[in-house]
Amino acid sequence: MASSTLLPAILQAVMRGQPRALSDAHYPGWHLAPVTGLLNDPNGFIHINGRYHLFYQWNALSCRHQHKCWGHWSSADLLQWQHEPIALMPDEEYDRSGCYSGSAVDNNGALTLVYTGNVKFDDGGRTAWQCLAVENEAGGFDKLGPVIALPDGYTGHVRDPKVWRHGERWYMVLGAQDTQLQGKVLLLCSDDLHTWHNRGEIAGSGLNGLGTAGYMWECPDLFTLGDSTFLICCPQGIAPEEQRFLNAHPSAWLAGDLDYDTARFTHGGFHELDAGFEFYAPQTTLTADGRRLLVGWMGVPAGEEKYQPTIARGWIHQMTCIRELGTRDGKLYQRPVAELQALRGEEHAFQGRAADAPAIPARRLELVLTGTGDVTLNFADTLLLEWHDAGLRLARRSLESGEWHYRYWCGAVTQLQILCDHSSVEIFINEGEGVMSSRYFPAAAAQLRLIGDTEVTARYWPLRRCVVE
Ligand code: FRU
Repeated sequence: MASSTLLPAILQAVMRGQPRALSDAHYPGWHLAPVTGLLNDPNGFIHINGRYHLFYQWNALSCRHQHKCWGHWSSADLLQWQHEPIALMPDEEYDRSGCYSGSAVDNNGALTLVYTGNVKFDDGGRTAWQCLAVENEAGGFDKLGPVIALPDGYTGHVRDPKVWRHGERWYMVLGAQDTQLQGKVLLLCSDDLHTWHNRGEIAGSGLNGLGTAGYMWECPDLFTLGDSTFLICCPQGIAPEEQRFLNAHPSAWLAGDLDYDTARFTHGGFHELDAGFEFYAPQTTLTADGRRLLVGWMGVPAGEEKYQPTIARGWIHQMTCIRELGTRDGKLYQRPVAELQALRGEEHAFQGRAADAPAIPARRLELVLTGTGDVTLNFADTLLLEWHDAGLRLARRSLESGEWHYRYWCGAVTQLQILCDHSSVEIFINEGEGVMSSRYFPAAAAQLRLIGDTEVTARYWPLRRCVVE
């Protein structure tokens, strides 16, 4: 679409679409979602000048993956978000097929975006530019143009810059596909955000003992937590295992050590970041008090997205809740960020045989459940969580075929913390050792029923709505 007609078309889409989306019973009550159209990756998550900013891949014009802009929200407290002007639209030659994912940095107080300008050609080929934009006085962003062209040895799939400061320099990880069609992560560095030096591949298919590991790695993120450096990535094309990596595209973490001088990252194997049905393209940032937060897209590219019922109401997808990362025994832990506790209403409690627990209204709910297993949690007859000695099995019918599909978390489970919104369930296992995030579309106001004879202890709270203004 010509750039001169894009903005009026987006405005019209929002004016027409927002009432239909926001009155949909599946529209989230306290998660971030698009007011119309399609949302995918979180972008540019940052705390700067006293506020959090979260940008997002957004196509306001339809529920398809086209015309990607950067939508923009900001918040003082991670609870009450407000809409900001659209940050980036695909209106230049170098980003004409989409302002793709990227990150934000605080450059001496200037909120600066680093994103991928995606360019598709008529013959099916494509190229990618890594580009800069800086916030202006009106709260919009001035594009500064491309700073990195396609490096030699890679296809047009080079994207999703995540930039951070280490010592006196800026560093960037980039997702890439080499000309042998192997997925890689590149490390680059710069003194000024404009001139970048490619330090080479730090992880990927065929590197560091991983074996063949996918044709493209998207959305890398790298940070240090405790004694380890973690690389988060979305390796496309890795083989599904019996009970892991079952989504069309998974999200994973690797833990290790990055030597900034030699640009070598030594690391262990893949761990699934979230074992639910919908989770992808997470991004992290640091708070002012040094906490590492993560937010992800509660969706999966090329999953069953085209069958989601919200498309009939003109919108699709939502973010996960904001999570705080931690580490124990070299593993990455995720828990709902503490600020979310402010959404809790009156506390309820139950102790006894699971099946004797009352049905719990689950439309907006936080539940903390302890026990030893042999319990099934039935969410509105639409999503079933079976808790066994050996772990968890989450069951949901395919939106396409009606067949049951399953996701698993393996290991002894002693505690579950479950956050429900109108069409999503996020299950935190053993205080963050695992997470399973999934969308679900209950036919009526959801109730949660517990099934089983074993003893459980439950505390739960209704959660209040949190509307974006
Ligand atoms: C991941 C992704 C990114 C890309 C963006 C485009 O979901 O494919 O690699 O930058 O989405 O919307």
